[in-house]
Amino acid sequence: MKPGKKVVEFEDPYSRCILCGHCIAVCPEDAVRYEDAEKPIRDPLIHTPEKILHARDLMLFLRARRSIRRFYGRHVPEKSLKFILDAMRYSPTGSNKQGLHFTVIVSREKIEYFSSKVISFFKLVRVVLILLRFLIPFGHKRKGSVLSNGLYRSLLNALEKAAAGKDPILYHAPCVIVLSGRTYAHQTQVDAGIALAHGMFAAQAQGLGTCLVGFAHERLLLGPFLRRALKIPRGCRPQGVMALGVPKVRYTVAPPRKPLSSNRI
Ligand SMILES: Cc1cc2nc3c(=O)[nH]c(=O)nc-3n(C[C@H](O)[C@H](O)[C@H](O)COP(=O)(O)O)c2cc1C
Repeated sequence: MKPGKKVVEFEDPYSRCILCGHCIAVCPEDAVRYEDAEKPIRDPLIHTPEKILHARDLMLFLRARRSIRRFYGRHVPEKSLKFILDAMRYSPTGSNKQGLHFTVIVSREKIEYFSSKVISFFKLVRVVLILLRFLIPFGHKRKGSVLSNGLYRSLLNALEKAAAGKDPILYHAPCVIVLSGRTYAHQTQVDAGIALAHGMFAAQAQGLGTCLVGFAHERLLLGPFLRRALKIPRGCRPQGVMALGVPKVRYTVAPPRKPLSSNRI
């Protein structure tokens, strides 16, 4: 405690502090600050988070989320975008590394380009699979073969739609967020998964729809050219792609899922 000041100064010579913020969260005197950090928020409800949302409302909200594949063309309002990015930024990360980077694509041209690169790759995969069909005669008729599985069929389906002028990858979304993990951070896959969930629900709370696009994510991992074209910084490995926009479809039923697969010891 510095004389005359109501502030505690910490020294961390061994760099053990991960800036998790628990000291801020528990200090009743509001005496702890980090240099250059934003202000913490204070709200009596933080003390009893179970009172912020009724459990039933939360479950309904979670189950009401759907992947949206039809969007209106209009832009995502800047305020909503900030809300979503904030929700993602406040998600927990391994060792509190906070090593996620968000590439927000709002250029229609770039989004179309991104989709077209996935489609070009699909075309290449189709050629390879057709060649395989010749090399392994009747292989495609075998159950579970790569030529008969759902992934191959969705690839063909996407190619058909693209040929008809549709965007079967990013669904003509007006905004796409690529979430990447800095290579210095570990556990970025988990970090990104949590941040994406935060983003999906924050979008839903703003009346917006999202779809995670694994195909676009996988395409980004194939080489640096597309990553560079989309201005994803060096040292950042893409961990997820989220299409975002005003939904053209609404649902009134939350579908079932498989029963819980679990074991208890
Ligand atoms: C990791 C991940 C990758 C996904 N990739 C795609 C994709 O490439 N294209 C797509 O249309 N949907 C994609 N989805 C959406 C799933 O198909 C969808 O979540 C699932 O069918 C359940 O539907 P729901 O999200 O409406 O509940 C993906 C979802 C996840 C979690």
